Amino acid sequence: MTEHIQIERQGAVQIIRMNRPDKKNAITRAMYAAMASALKEADADAELRVSVFMGVPGAFSSGNDLADFLAVAQGGEHGREVFDFLMALATAAKPVLAGVDGIAVGIGTTIQLHCDLTFATPRSVFRTPFVDLGLVPEAGSSLLGPAILGRQQAFALLGLGEGFSAEKAKATGLIYEVVDEDHLEGAVLAAAREIAAKPPEALKIARDLMRGDRSELVARIKEEGAHFAARLKSEEARAAFLAFMSRKKAG
Ligand code: COA
Repeated sequence: MTEHIQIERQGAVQIIRMNRPDKKNAITRAMYAAMASALKEADADAELRVSVFMGVPGAFSSGNDLADFLAVAQGGEHGREVFDFLMALATAAKPVLAGVDGIAVGIGTTIQLHCDLTFATPRSVFRTPFVDLGLVPEAGSSLLGPAILGRQQAFALLGLGEGFSAEKAKATGLIYEVVDEDHLEGAVLAAAREIAAKPPEALKIARDLMRGDRSELVARIKEEGAHFAARLKSEEARAAFLAFMSRKKAG
């Protein structure tokens, strides 16, 4: 579907790798669609037990492609790809892990709120500049953020747009563990293999119990999505996207 998402199987582990290094893994509509398909495939395939999100060295993701956002701000169609991806992520039936090295902006950060285990390198920074872009938190982060981080840390992350270091992300519960660059992939894949070797029925029940009823999360993603779609068309957002794109041209 797109060369920017690479899907690899290692036994019962599916690796979903964002691979658009020239744009620091900014996520396009085609990339969301490919990642949603991979998550659905994992749920449908009994041979697959766990999915792992990875990026490239130095960039997990710089978030949604701002050129795509600008196109919507200028009257283009939003499309369903982001929403489909968020639904697949929020309702995933099997464990989802992530290995983060470097930049994790916007959805690059909010994905972690859905993951079962995230490993990140010391140079990783998690940041969600939604409000600065004239936008609002997405991916259910307005619900999961306060629940996982507590209200004040969630406000710092999602409201102020403060960058969280890997250590702070671990201390606040956004991620599971900090590991050196050289050991990142090994650590994530070892955890994935360990999960894949567990009795799948017991693991599914345990995970479902920990997650609880997901209807509130699904409803929140829809509520956020309605605000987000409206905000994309706002003057505040349009000005922020244009500022980023013109910074690019000037550079
Ligand atoms: N959408 C589209 N393009 C993006 C992008 C994004 N979210 N993030 C980075 N890029 C592009 C840059 O425009 C640049 O493209 P160019 O080489 O054609 O000029 C390239 O990726 C490299 O980015 P650059 O800014 O030079 O790298 P950096 O290491 O100095 O900074 C970031 C990296 C992520 C801090 C910075 O690019 C940034 O702030 N990006 C926007 C993040 C964002 O707001 N995302 C949306 C969240 S909702």
